[in-house]
Amino acid sequence: QAKSGQKDFLHINDFDKATILKILDQAAEIKALLKSGDRTFLPFKGKTMAMIFAKPSMRTRVSFETGFSLLGGHAIYLGPDDIQMGKREETRDVARVLSCYNDIIMARVFAHQDILDLAKYATVPVVNGLTDFNHPCQIMADALTIIEHIGHLEGTKVVYVGDGNNIVHSWLLLASVIPFHFVCACPKGFEPDEQTAEKARKAGISKIEITNDPKEAVRGADVVYSDVWASMGQKEEAAFRRQVFKGFQVDENLMKLAGPKAYFMHCLPAERGVEVTDEVIEAPNSIVFPQAENRMHAQNAIMLHLFGL
Ligand code: CP
Ligand code: NVA
Repeated sequence: QAKSGQKDFLHINDFDKATILKILDQAAEIKALLKSGDRTFLPFKGKTMAMIFAKPSMRTRVSFETGFSLLGGHAIYLGPDDIQMGKREETRDVARVLSCYNDIIMARVFAHQDILDLAKYATVPVVNGLTDFNHPCQIMADALTIIEHIGHLEGTKVVYVGDGNNIVHSWLLLASVIPFHFVCACPKGFEPDEQTAEKARKAGISKIEITNDPKEAVRGADVVYSDVWASMGQKEEAAFRRQVFKGFQVDENLMKLAGPKAYFMHCLPAERGVEVTDEVIEAPNSIVFPQAENRMHAQNAIMLHLFGL
């Protein structure tokens, strides 16, 4: 069990700054080790992980499964049709049964309440692999990527352009713990959850801005960040959203306004020509693939922390 007393990894701000920075440091260490070709660090040997996916995934599934196995463990993929959590069986029953077989549970679900219920009833650690509310593993990987490219996260200006969605909520929760300047530029009516934004502001750690003007927002940015306009579960709204989000596409002109030092980031999958142009995602200052790569290392470090290793 983690020494900080937190059984699960559900929201970044469940952890203090020292713990988050320790996890990020350890992620960098394990990354260096694995990249050197060393395969002798096997802390997950004899451990198994259940991975519940109510939604599709490439990065989350492959990075968790590969990462867990590279460190000696065995991961079991449970897709949308397998256990049908909440449909075939109640979440609290799934939690208790999987806890009998597995040392850790990772889950990607729709309703945030599902991950809270899973964590409440599981006796083993539960890791949030994305909900409709947040995506903490992604933002931990993003923080690691920013530290690698800029040298530090503290004091940087991160400007998110697009829908005030689960990615934004995790940025806000990170900004409640680590000081930086976070700006979300989104169309009117697509702002992040007001309570979450207010909580982040009240934490008094970071400068937080929510605006409807992407051109003004990106000035002086260290990072311009984008995500799909229609998240999983909203795909039937895609056509409508393309109309509303016009003017929020990250293109070369917007990157020019940001300035020459700005990196482009995106959690992927991306819809090229919609929220971001092909030119921007393929530009030398686009760090979307290092971001994806860091998912595995950040998650390995999160799991080591939860196991108290
Ligand atoms: N970024 C991310 O979580 O990707 P997947 O949906 O492919 O897992
Ligand atoms: N906001 C996106 C993130 C995908 C990784 C979604 O929820 O679909």
